[in-house]
Amino acid sequence: MSDAAMPATASGADRIDRLRALLGTSAILGPAELEGRDAGWDAANFNAFALARPSSTAAVARLLAWCADEGIVVVPQGGRTGLVGGAVSSPDALICDLGGLAAIEEIDAETGIAVVQAGITLAALQQATNAIGLDPGIDLAARGSATIGGMVSTNAGGIMAFRAGVMRHRVLGLEVVLPDGRIFSDMTRVIKTSAGYDLKHLFIGAEGTLGVVTRVVLKLEPVVAARATALVAIADAQMGLAIVRHLQTRLPGRLRAAEIMWRTFVAATGAALGFDVSQSPFDAPCVLGLEIAGEDFDEAASALENGLAEIYDELDIEGCVVATSLQQAERLWSVRERTEILYRLHPRAPSFDVSVAGGAIDVYLSRTLADLRLIDPEIEPYVFGHLADGNLHIVLNLPGPLDEAMQEDVERAIYQDLAAMGGSLSAEHGIGLTKRAAFERYADPVKQQLTAAIKNLLDPTGICNPGKILDTKLVL
Ligand code: LAC
Ligand code: ZN
Repeated sequence: MSDAAMPATASGADRIDRLRALLGTSAILGPAELEGRDAGWDAANFNAFALARPSSTAAVARLLAWCADEGIVVVPQGGRTGLVGGAVSSPDALICDLGGLAAIEEIDAETGIAVVQAGITLAALQQATNAIGLDPGIDLAARGSATIGGMVSTNAGGIMAFRAGVMRHRVLGLEVVLPDGRIFSDMTRVIKTSAGYDLKHLFIGAEGTLGVVTRVVLKLEPVVAARATALVAIADAQMGLAIVRHLQTRLPGRLRAAEIMWRTFVAATGAALGFDVSQSPFDAPCVLGLEIAGEDFDEAASALENGLAEIYDELDIEGCVVATSLQQAERLWSVRERTEILYRLHPRAPSFDVSVAGGAIDVYLSRTLADLRLIDPEIEPYVFGHLADGNLHIVLNLPGPLDEAMQEDVERAIYQDLAAMGGSLSAEHGIGLTKRAAFERYADPVKQQLTAAIKNLLDPTGICNPGKILDTKLVL
């Protein structure tokens, strides 16, 4: 509902006063208090008339019921690290910030589960679980700001998905406040449940369009004692996958990460971080970042070295560096993780997040890059990603946003044959706003119809994160 459609008395200040009466003065930030605060990945995240920070599920429920009555739209926000505009707000919207719901309610070390509130960051949960020998089993570069609720809402994947699954596989139970203020509670702590439709999965990856995730039960994994890291110079994804398969066979269960970076990416991040990118392994067509778990650092490093030595000649590996200290490991890993460097080089660079079945990556990439060069011969994308699950990030070396015609051409080059290849047009970042046109163009039509029907059923007045995933105006 636009401001113009609000009742005459419901001016911005009036709404803020009533919200303060509802949740308490300190739980509501008006435009003046939002000014100068970090809006996260997208400055438009803070375009709302106010930000509410409820501190309990009951408060979220009160807030949503009030918004439903008033016809006020709500944009749920976690760490504001999303890359597809899923947290972007508008002047008629109220932000529901989950930062006030950030407690670890329980870690049950015996059964290996954690019960947490949605606003806790991944890093905070990693720290708390690691201290007692457990781990959330999911990891990503934005760990310091990404929240568990946000990760549920985007069905986040990250570095370890190939071994421990994506968020959907980590979630045992979920609590969600629905757009009308009702509380959907399914806080199961067990893997097995076939008690009718497993509705929690509707909310995982729904990007806050069906309600606000408030609490989560997560499955935990044993933490590893130590890790060794290597960067390996390789020719292409196929060679990288051969190394992955070899290490998985020789060191069962010990491969923790297999991240791939093509040359333009390594040249950009490596140079910015002070590496000599004219030297091996940074000058190779691709660099593979590996992590192996072990009893201690030395044992892990020698297992990784030996594992690589066994196939070095056979695969014609071009060069390799195995970190000799934790500090060096972190420094090498920063070449892969410091992706913000790309966006400093090309502000708001158009970025894409696809997955392609492993064996098809090289063919997909060479076809896609050729098609992109037909659009503009200067396009030399930065390509990197999570090799072992086929998730590629493609960031263009252009400032964004692109004009509509070019955006459409670029999307055709990147998305056209993904469905036929069994891939996905959004592997782990979601649809949000920036991938909505592509979703309309490339997602299965029946999937789109069902998406609209489900949105209609759960949020008939369209107050929850409107415009994300689907054009609410068209379907409600
Ligand atoms: C990463 C983010 C971009 O993998 O998904 O670094
Ligand atoms: Zn990623």
